[in-house]
Amino acid sequence: MIKVKVPATTANMGAGFDCLGMALDLYNELIVQEADAFSIEMKKNTGMPKSHLTKDNMVYQSMLRFYSEIGKKIPEVKITQDDNIPMTRGLGSSSACIVAGLFAANELAGKPLSKDELAQLACQIEGHPDNVAPAVYGGIIIAVLEDDKLFHVKIAPSDELSFVTFIPNFQLSTAKARKILPNMYSRADAVFNISRASLFVASMMSRNWDNLAISVNDKIHQPYRGTLIPSMEQIFSCSAEAGAKGVFMSGAGPTIIAIVGREHEREFADTMKSRLNEIECGVWETKILHADLNGAEVNEIL
Ligand code: HSE
Repeated sequence: MIKVKVPATTANMGAGFDCLGMALDLYNELIVQEADAFSIEMKKNTGMPKSHLTKDNMVYQSMLRFYSEIGKKIPEVKITQDDNIPMTRGLGSSSACIVAGLFAANELAGKPLSKDELAQLACQIEGHPDNVAPAVYGGIIIAVLEDDKLFHVKIAPSDELSFVTFIPNFQLSTAKARKILPNMYSRADAVFNISRASLFVASMMSRNWDNLAISVNDKIHQPYRGTLIPSMEQIFSCSAEAGAKGVFMSGAGPTIIAIVGREHEREFADTMKSRLNEIECGVWETKILHADLNGAEVNEIL
């Protein structure tokens, strides 16, 4: 029996569109065992569509892709998913399924692929590396996918920071959130983002928290996607007033993340809960999360 645990991830982190991401301490767990016939079971009712309980399920599809990659036939499997990452909210639930499927299949097949090969395959399936790479490696990942090859560097986020996460009760598909983006950007917008993404990484490495508010600003995706997320601007400004060091849309949204000092995390979250009630901006769950430093873990349980 194979057990895999994969972290949630936040991608982009403001200006790092399609190249920056970080793993968070919220996890999906997966158990895969060989069986007489295919079956799939969800431990929790996550409101998943029925198609996810068939062979169309993303975990199974990723396992299939793995077996096709190694040129072997997939065995019949029983899959049990215990999902805690909310779906279609910008917290890397699809990437967690892809990574979980690949890691489980690799273990089942006797580990023919290395972690780096699995990460690369996950990037090819997902199409961009900023969720799958941190889901595999943990920490903050700066990633480039060129000619289907993954180049990346991991940096360890400081334990002085907490990531207070606002998760709305509505979904926003990544496909829809990518479609709304323009095909062309001005040189000024490109410079705006390159400078801020670079400053963000350097500030995380040098622990210069004063730069965070500026370095998470973005002109590539947030202004466009914000039109699909009512109250985004209000949540950004309330977070800043409540003392956030920086606020950004998580991945393709609709979740929003505020970076705060760990010693103030509870006070900040409580203030924000009452502010969100006062401004009547819909139903948003507030979760205090921290960086996950290890990424996906796989174990064979005898
Ligand atoms: N970089 C991706 C995007 C993350 O913003 O579309 C979501 O998968």
